[in-house]
Amino acid sequence: MFLQTLSLLNFRSYPSLSVSFPPGGALFEGLNGTGKTNVLEAIHVLCTGRSQRGAARGDMIMHGQDSAFIEGEFCGSAAAIGFSRDKKVVMKRDGVDIRSYSEWFGERPVVSFGTNDLDLVYGPPETRRRFLDMLICQIDRAYLAALAAYRKSMACRNALLGKSSDSALFDIYEQAMAENASILVFKRSEAIEELQKYLSGYYAEISGEGENAMLEYAPKIKQKISNLNTIYEWQNVYLNTLSESRSRDAELMFTSRGPHRDDLRFLMNGRLAKSYASQGQCRSFALSLKLGSVLLMERRREGGMIFLVDDAVSELDPERTSRVYPLLEGRGQIFIATPRCHVKLGDGVMKCVVEPGKVTSL
Ligand SMILES: Nc1ncnc2c1ncn2[C@@H]1O[C@H](COP(=O)(O)OP(=O)(O)OP(=O)(O)O)[C@@H](O)[C@H]1O
Ligand SMILES: [Mg+2]
Repeated sequence: MFLQTLSLLNFRSYPSLSVSFPPGGALFEGLNGTGKTNVLEAIHVLCTGRSQRGAARGDMIMHGQDSAFIEGEFCGSAAAIGFSRDKKVVMKRDGVDIRSYSEWFGERPVVSFGTNDLDLVYGPPETRRRFLDMLICQIDRAYLAALAAYRKSMACRNALLGKSSDSALFDIYEQAMAENASILVFKRSEAIEELQKYLSGYYAEISGEGENAMLEYAPKIKQKISNLNTIYEWQNVYLNTLSESRSRDAELMFTSRGPHRDDLRFLMNGRLAKSYASQGQCRSFALSLKLGSVLLMERRREGGMIFLVDDAVSELDPERTSRVYPLLEGRGQIFIATPRCHVKLGDGVMKCVVEPGKVTSL
């Protein structure tokens, strides 16, 4: 699987764009603000339905326009996604409408390496949850289904909070939440365990240092997680947690405990990396984690992968491409956005110049 053609209509700074790519991928070179990241973002949205920089769909529609369209051909299969300011989304595979994200997600696996990877270490728990969810959703459809079902029943429970004391209704939603929460937590724990192995290996390779880089799952529950071994034990914990927190949640007007509040802790020599490790060590940590997620996806699925490497050079941020490209070369189709590339890229990578609204291959 690789992206052969990309067409954009009213996407960010592109009124209209059509580009073809070789299996090796492409390098987008251009001045700041010309639209390099926008192209990577379009590819990410086409693959996953979401922006890699967490942008809302409305922000990706060209100013002054009502809707945006992205189309791509992937070795014999065509994918298209369109969205409008009134929040309508259309997804098509080979011209046929797709109704749910579970059918869309995971067919075109993608991993992005970007300027905001450090947010994984320093940012809020939501950033780390989004990373973990994005990773597992791309390798496991059951996880994606459980996540959607969990969010749906939580929205129903949240709508009752502070308005109803119908405990039978709460029981129904909490049962559904607990069932799906236990699946999410179980699968997250499995993925983290595997990711841990790869992370340690990459960290040692990249930093050449003796530190011990570790990942730890931190669910927002009162119980000690080492005592929880089966999916049924987790389910019971969530059932009790939800019913115990009903009155508190009613005051807060939201569900305060559950997998939607969990975190992933990054530890260096047993201490929290963000308050203990140096900036350089945290950067190597984030990069090792991303590379670890590539390996995890390679082990769990077949059929190629797309890598997006966004390299905005700044004094504080030594060029990423030089470290990332050699580690990804030959493992999938690579798209790199950079103002200046200092790396010798393989012959299979097409070079393009980006100017406002325009991408020209060299
Ligand atoms: N919704 C939108 N409609 C029109 N233009 C937009 C929209 N969103 C962003 N832009 C424009 O896109 C440009 C930024 O594009 P992008 O972030 O891809 O730049 P870049 O080439 O990656 O720059 P850098 O090298 O600084 O990272 C800006 O000029 C911005 O005004
Ligand atoms: Mg950019």
